[in-house]
Amino acid sequence: MDSLKKLNRYLRDYKGIIFLGALFLTASNFFLIWIPVLIRRTMDEVELLGEEYAGQYDSVYEILFSSEAGAILAFNSLLLIGTVLLYGILLFATRQTLIVSSRKIEFDIRNKVIDKLLKLPQRFFASNRSGEIYVRATEDVGRVREYFGPVLMYTLNTITRAGFIITMMIIVNPQLTFWALLPLPFLSAFAYWVSGFINKYQLIIQEQYSNLAERAQESFSSIRLIKAYNRLDHEQNRFEKESDSYRRKKLKLDMIESLFHPTLNLLIGVSVVIVIWQGGLMVIDGLITVGNIAEFVIYVAYLTWPVASLGYTVNTFQKSMASWERIDAVLSEPIDIRDKSGSFEPAEAKGEIVFKNISFKYPEASEYALKNINFRIKSGSTVAFVGRTGAGKTTLVNLIPRLFDPTEGDILVDGVNVKDWNLSTLRRIIGYVPQETFLFSTTIKENIAFGVDHAGMSEIKEAAESAQVLDNILDFEKKFETIVGERGITLSGGQKQRTAIARALIKKPKIVILDDSLSAVDTNTEDAILKHLNTQLKDKTTLTISHRISTVKNADTIFYIEDGSIIEEGTHNELLERKGSYSRMYQKQLLEQELAQI
Ligand SMILES: Nc1ncnc2c1ncn2[C@@H]1O[C@H](COP(=O)(O)OP(=O)(O)OP(=O)(O)O)[C@@H](O)[C@H]1O
Ligand SMILES: [Mg+2]
Repeated sequence: MDSLKKLNRYLRDYKGIIFLGALFLTASNFFLIWIPVLIRRTMDEVELLGEEYAGQYDSVYEILFSSEAGAILAFNSLLLIGTVLLYGILLFATRQTLIVSSRKIEFDIRNKVIDKLLKLPQRFFASNRSGEIYVRATEDVGRVREYFGPVLMYTLNTITRAGFIITMMIIVNPQLTFWALLPLPFLSAFAYWVSGFINKYQLIIQEQYSNLAERAQESFSSIRLIKAYNRLDHEQNRFEKESDSYRRKKLKLDMIESLFHPTLNLLIGVSVVIVIWQGGLMVIDGLITVGNIAEFVIYVAYLTWPVASLGYTVNTFQKSMASWERIDAVLSEPIDIRDKSGSFEPAEAKGEIVFKNISFKYPEASEYALKNINFRIKSGSTVAFVGRTGAGKTTLVNLIPRLFDPTEGDILVDGVNVKDWNLSTLRRIIGYVPQETFLFSTTIKENIAFGVDHAGMSEIKEAAESAQVLDNILDFEKKFETIVGERGITLSGGQKQRTAIARALIKKPKIVILDDSLSAVDTNTEDAILKHLNTQLKDKTTLTISHRISTVKNADTIFYIEDGSIIEEGTHNELLERKGSYSRMYQKQLLEQELAQI
């Protein structure tokens, strides 16, 4: 109930137009019921004409235009045409108001969901599959719309139409009304059962479809791997299996759906037979006219859809609510990392970083990924983090732009707790090159300019130059307009990494974080980049993570991390003298190098 109340809040902005739509709908049903009445009157008129003038006229026109009864008949026909037209126009107006406002509400909700999703902390994305998140923003929002659209419209329609029609029927003849309505509850129950089945099956099919889509996507994005490992047949078999399962489910649904209309028609048929049979008896007894029978048959036909839609509406309503609850869960998800008003926004940042007793545990993990980390990085200095894979290096740097907040301890940037910084200012002064390079499927230019709002071509070139990727780009036929990614060319691993570095540098950040960002380039290029960065990054604080000694040996301070703790720190020479883990790592790499040269 609470969640329904929350959902209904979205109606507020459209109250006026929905009310207007309800008026149109009521009016359309009001005119609808006059159609059978006019038909009855016309039919009764014809019957009288037949009795009165049988054999006396040569043509229909004569009766119509030269007798009084004929004039009434013509008038009724015109009235009938007018009523049908009016009904049609009102129906159009109903859809234009009710369905259109449901689309607008859908738009509002979708914007809200997307806005929220973008702001949610990393924690949320770590515990929800991206496919599911995608469904929240697309299908679930679409199903919620059905509540504001079809559910609202059909409910109003059923109430007003059934109200008008049943009233009219009772006025004409209560007894015949009873007989005509007798099969309708069965109709409603049947429609409820079928639409429940259809809904359930549609969900199953949808799920199967996403399996299929996921399979296809995975196959095609790993097509090189599949070919290299000779797994074409294997992949095809797997796909066929999923595809077959999809087909069988779909066929079952099709069968139920194709049973639906014939059964519906059968029940209406029963209703019509009853009306004709009971009504016929009444005509013989002189209680009603033949026109009344025609009128009732039409009433029954008019009632069919509202009654059948009752079952459908209840099911759709349940489905909408289930989707809404999932959306509501996203909307009520707390955003613990957000901008605070009046937060710290320095005119010029210095780039000093302090970690004070930092410990960190991933939400679902049992072990701490970082344990009691303490250090001070002076503004403008270059530090490096080394250590085995899984030691906690990425985790450590993620805390600085607040992708996660530490479980314990404080991080200060320029002496101010990162939690007191204006979040977007903090993130603006940090140029972060994540460990996994991700390029968007667009031009190289846009990829580099991603983090800044209005980047000029000279800035883009400068960033590319600093990242040592400019020559590569200029070698491409379309240069900076070259499309990369899925629909474009595939950059080499090293080219990708350097494009990502350019993306970080164009922000002119005060703090640069390179998470293993030079792993795919050769040592010569690496030297060139580092030299360039060193001159460029003189006043920038640089944090480099690497597995290669050559990358880190010139750093002002090197931290050796093991199991989430800093176990050694100092310059390259100091650490070599200690003859600890760092020195062992260096010796091993030296040996590897020598072996490689043999
Ligand atoms: N999102 C996450 N949820 C839970 N545990 C995580 C998550 N990310 C990383 N971990 C765990 O935290 C530990 C530290 O991982 P981290 O990525 O920081 O290592 P790393 O030093 O960067 O390793 P590498 O050199 O391989 O990049 C690992 O045990 C890892 O499994
Ligand atoms: Mg890492």
